[in-house]
Amino acid sequence: MPARDLTRRSRIRDVARHPLGRDVIESLALQVGRSPRWVTNPLVGAVRLSTLPRLTGRRIDDAFVDALVALMRTVPDAVAPSGMPLREAWFKEAVVYQIYPRSFQDSNGDGIGDLRGILSRLDYLKALGVDAVWLSPIYDSPMDDMGYDIRDYRAVLAEFGTLDDFDALVAGLHERGMRLIMDLVVNHTSDEHEWFQQALADPDSPYRDYYFFREGEPDAAPNNWTSFFSGSAWRWFEEAGAWALHLFSSKQMDLNWENAALRTEIVEMVRWWRERGVDGFRLDVINYISKTPGLPPGNPLIGRLIGFTGMEHYFHGPRLHEHLKQLRAEAFDDPDCVAIGETPGIGPQMGKLLVGDDRGELDMIFNFEHLENPGRTRFDDYRYDLGYLKRYYTRWQAEYGDGYWMSLFFDNHDNPRFVSKVDPRPEHRVAVAKLLATVQFTLRGTPFLYQGQEVGAANQGFTMLDQLRDVESHNLAAELTASGVAPAEIFARVLAGTRDHTRVPMAWDATGGFTTGVPWIAGDGSHVEVNVALQEGDLDSVLEWHRALIALRRSSRALVYGETITERSSRRVWRYRRRAGAEEFLVALNLSDRVARLRAPGPGWMLERASGPGTGPLAPYEARVWRSSAG
Ligand code: NOJ
Ligand code: CA
Repeated sequence: MPARDLTRRSRIRDVARHPLGRDVIESLALQVGRSPRWVTNPLVGAVRLSTLPRLTGRRIDDAFVDALVALMRTVPDAVAPSGMPLREAWFKEAVVYQIYPRSFQDSNGDGIGDLRGILSRLDYLKALGVDAVWLSPIYDSPMDDMGYDIRDYRAVLAEFGTLDDFDALVAGLHERGMRLIMDLVVNHTSDEHEWFQQALADPDSPYRDYYFFREGEPDAAPNNWTSFFSGSAWRWFEEAGAWALHLFSSKQMDLNWENAALRTEIVEMVRWWRERGVDGFRLDVINYISKTPGLPPGNPLIGRLIGFTGMEHYFHGPRLHEHLKQLRAEAFDDPDCVAIGETPGIGPQMGKLLVGDDRGELDMIFNFEHLENPGRTRFDDYRYDLGYLKRYYTRWQAEYGDGYWMSLFFDNHDNPRFVSKVDPRPEHRVAVAKLLATVQFTLRGTPFLYQGQEVGAANQGFTMLDQLRDVESHNLAAELTASGVAPAEIFARVLAGTRDHTRVPMAWDATGGFTTGVPWIAGDGSHVEVNVALQEGDLDSVLEWHRALIALRRSSRALVYGETITERSSRRVWRYRRRAGAEEFLVALNLSDRVARLRAPGPGWMLERASGPGTGPLAPYEARVWRSSAG
């Protein structure tokens, strides 16, 4: 059924055939602990949407059904049938390393990491086997959200250095055969950006329409949308007698992509950086750029389910694909310029519409569903069940045929350390870190490492709120305080999810090695035991495990482009093969903290790597990789 014909009278099976509908249903099924296959049951498929409120005891309401139908109708596109040819590309073969510039290496003792500092560490990255570096934002910014609030797109923040330092960094990378991926933050700018300042000062300024301004009264926000960083998504500007939209902090003003002149400015800005030698971009919350015209109110039930009200009006807006196609055609008009979308909330089918080779949009996306178990959020303190990771990747690897490519990551600057989520006990840290690395380097997709992950860095033992720097953490604490939650409980929640776990200085050696001064944020002292210098050359270390697996991946076409064949295994074991031509690998992973039985591979398999004993049953969290001797 074409999307425009969908109504409340449509059946679940019509929804399941629609890319957005199918992702929503599968994700709901996962949340309530059902297999996504549940929707293919003919009885379930025949259910009409209009009967869902009654069937679910009103847990799903009419407004939810209407919102779902309206959303699906904005996506007329169908996922291409499988069978697209494989397209080879440097970024599919690459290992990418994310640097959080403020915390990687300080070169001048002011306690803040900088571009010259990064330059001084390029040989380390090269020796690790890194092919491309992704830099979190280094643009001029008041740093309300650590650089994701840009004041000037064409300048480097003074604390980080100068444009000359930037050019030197690009040259340093290219000389070593590495590439540079910049963060591109174009869903919003800082309120200190010249465009916003002019828009605020003059309602007739051409920049007024670059943002979402709404004149009105200070006590009535234009709609009920909420910000990801607590409270309303609207900020009142007394001097202008108007509200302006900010999905993130109150200093990150959303840009209005309906405005063609704004889009042109962005295209030109991207081209300006490309001319300086940038090889690609990571596009911050890029699926949020198109908002439903008129900014209608968010559905309260959807708001409760996902924790943020209004999201159905922008997580996949009506003109998203059109805008991305424009960016691809005008800004990234070179197949070697990689475009990676950060796309929270996008499932596998919608992901295909964003990255399919037939689409002319993005090369890959970051989706975050694998980082939490169903029903959990980042601020819940719980032990992550790796069985879910196995189900998640098995599903995505099977879904993504040759015409699609995925990213593989666990850590970044927006999440606590995944190793700690899986098992916070220090005695398991090394094994879990090696297991996660094995997943990243042996599944099909581009691995993205985040600084410190290669040494198995874990969460920080912060003890009080004052040690944290992140605006999100502080806003959340204020919100919980205002709603009467006890201080100890507030701290426990914030600690579970704070983004500062991964924003502390990189641990180079037992003294820290990050700065000769006072770091802008302090870690908990764990760098004394977990650092690069200690692990260099120690073949049992997490660092050397990364190096060895990166080298293995580089040496093998099967590990990059090969198909993924999931084998049957017990619940606690994950077992898959990667195959290209005659070359083949077998991977077995123990997903639990107990010894797990393993069906021994046949005689044709030679053990390449084991993070534990390598024979007999799998030790807790052990990872083993075999190569077929036929290959
Ligand atoms: C995603 C970025 O990764 C995060 O750090 C930031 O706070 C938001 N987008 C807003 O830019
Ligand atoms: Ca510095």
